[in-house]
Amino acid sequence: MTMTIAIDGYSSCGKSTLAKALAKKLSFAYVDSGAMYRAVTHYFLRHDVDINNDIEVINALEKVKIDFVIIDGKNTCLLNGENVEFDIRSMRISNNVSEVAAIGTVREKLVGLQRSIASSKSIVMDGRDIGTVVFPDADIKFFVTADRKIRTKRRYQELIAAGKDVTMREVQQNLDHRDHIDTTREISPLRKAEDAIEIDNTYLTREEQLTLALKFIEEIK
Ligand code: DC
Repeated sequence: MTMTIAIDGYSSCGKSTLAKALAKKLSFAYVDSGAMYRAVTHYFLRHDVDINNDIEVINALEKVKIDFVIIDGKNTCLLNGENVEFDIRSMRISNNVSEVAAIGTVREKLVGLQRSIASSKSIVMDGRDIGTVVFPDADIKFFVTADRKIRTKRRYQELIAAGKDVTMREVQQNLDHRDHIDTTREISPLRKAEDAIEIDNTYLTREEQLTLALKFIEEIK
């Protein structure tokens, strides 16, 4: 029997930290659905795809192939066979990804891919619509939140550590912008599924957050 764990939440609230830790602890596969939207954005920017032109978007989507492989122990996103893991974390992608993720045809393609990945194995997937749309029948759903200032600080530190040249203000503006689009878009807006368990990690360490989530998973087993 396979198990599906869905994790949703705002940008940079600690979802992926929790998802990766759970996947490791439970020996499940980790799927970063945000990376898929970032990879499509990367392709669109690189090929000057006009996101307001439906035909251009559909044609471009046909040429996009996304895979995940483990490289040096890390989950790595491949776009048409190329390792784009570093590129898709840039501010340029962050500044454009929410508009791309609001396009219906993009979501259709990626939701299909997300479901097919989960069809044969136990997974932990994080994103914005995983518990509401992709896996409404997930075995367990978490909705992760954290204070806005804490999220900005964590994201800023993450980007600096990854060698990106950013300011705290840029990061804050980007998070606010993405929160706004992600929660107000017409298709699959970010919201907490009715049956999701909310975890506010503002004052939790990574370990405390993991322990709490594991406790809830233990309860449904
Ligand atoms: O989790 P992330 O910041 O890497 O996600 C990048 C963008 O992709 C985010 O602004 C919203 C979008 N996204 C989405 O719409 N649905 C998902 N399941 C995952 C991400």
